[in-house]
Amino acid sequence: MRKKLVVGNWKMYGNSIENEQLLNSIVAGLTGLQIEQCAVCVPYPYLPSVQNKLNNTNISWGAQNVSQYQKGAYTGEVSTSMLNDFGCTFVIIGHSERRSLFGENNDIVAEKYVAAQGGKLTPILCVGETLEQRERGITEQIIQEQLMTIINKAGVESLSKAVVAYEPVWAIGTGKTAAPNQAQEVHTFIRNSIGTQDMTIAKELTILYGGSVKANNAAELFAMPDIDGGLIGGASLVADDFVAICNTLNN
Ligand code: 13P
Repeated sequence: MRKKLVVGNWKMYGNSIENEQLLNSIVAGLTGLQIEQCAVCVPYPYLPSVQNKLNNTNISWGAQNVSQYQKGAYTGEVSTSMLNDFGCTFVIIGHSERRSLFGENNDIVAEKYVAAQGGKLTPILCVGETLEQRERGITEQIIQEQLMTIINKAGVESLSKAVVAYEPVWAIGTGKTAAPNQAQEVHTFIRNSIGTQDMTIAKELTILYGGSVKANNAAELFAMPDIDGGLIGGASLVADDFVAICNTLNN
């Protein structure tokens, strides 16, 4: 049985006081969930306090990016072993904001994915097309390229220790959610495309949907057969909404 998962991506939001309130409410609201059904990926400086707060709860945590290098003169970078120091389970790799705003191409994303797995972190590999690419009818081609760079570098078997998140760029932070069947179509493509290389790994792979998931649309998205949960931006900062979205997994 493949695992269901909801992950909050806090992006560059929050502060110590707000985080404390948010985490208190999330912990209280999610007592019924199983371990690894829910996680938050937070800004680096808050990892120690998030670790303190979530240790011995049923919520995991992680980071939103990691260096492809292990150590060295890389000013401003953070390594996998540093994330290990704070008990991270997950790291988001190749988010579209990293790709479009910080110059991460498929090759860099693949290096970071390999580094994450080498450092015993579970990468949440983000793939997805822009609006322009969708309108040009090249959604599948773009996603295939994003996946193949990973498979060529790390092998298809690496996906047995990873999570994939399909995030159409046009749905991120715009309030325009992909329709459930529209998202399902791409999730099926992702699973089938990996399945041509290894059917067992494809069947077991957790594929999340991300892009304007809210408390009022999570259930219909997660009901789709190839959507195994969500990667949540804005709604993960609102405790009641995030709790409601996570609890959708139990329904
Ligand atoms: P929103 O849920 O705010 O659209 O963000 C999605 C996202 O980018 C999660 O990684």
